[in-house]
Amino acid sequence: MKVLFLTSNENKVTEANQTLSELGYEIEQFLINGLAPKIIEPQSSEIEIVSEFKIQQALELISGTNFENHALLVEDSGLFIESLSDFPGVYSSYFFRTVGNQGILKLLENESNRNAEYRAYSILYRDGVYFRALGKCLGSISTEIKGSNGFGYDPIFIPDSGDGRTFGEMQDYEKESKSHRGESLRILYDKLSLPSK
Ligand code: IMP
Repeated sequence: MKVLFLTSNENKVTEANQTLSELGYEIEQFLINGLAPKIIEPQSSEIEIVSEFKIQQALELISGTNFENHALLVEDSGLFIESLSDFPGVYSSYFFRTVGNQGILKLLENESNRNAEYRAYSILYRDGVYFRALGKCLGSISTEIKGSNGFGYDPIFIPDSGDGRTFGEMQDYEKESKSHRGESLRILYDKLSLPSK
């Protein structure tokens, strides 16, 4: 089954395919004339609210097109750092683009509490029904940049469920099995697999 993923982040599409493709779902980036449509994000500090806006925009975009009967996927995610009162959170994408991983390491230079959490909230729309799932990954921020796999904050994020390596030092399948996105998509898949009433 084909699912259109409204995102400008190709890494998210790759990761969604890792989780859902072996279960029979083919995730494709939602493009119009070869470009990811611009998404207007609401002023909200909650990824759940941002995701709800995204799915409504996705529905408006496919309305009246050949894609109208396709399933849709959206997701909002972020890095929440405990000692920074959950910053950058919903601003993760913007913060990464402006100051990057070095910026986070600088903010935490003299900080002993390096606890952090990745969160992802996904919504899949299929045949008039919404499926929603929150995934979390507890971890900590490293003291230096390590590894080049994954994307975004992965080279400074050490998952608690790992062996001390950052996501940037892990293979894709290792990250998928531990990550917030992997968890959120597996929950979605379980919901999709339930017999409909
Ligand atoms: P958005 O959901 O498109 O608004 O962006 C989420 C932002 O959070 C990304 O651009 C990254 O900066 C960060 N982020 C979310 N998930 C991950 C991940 O799995 N690895 C690294 N960074 C992530």
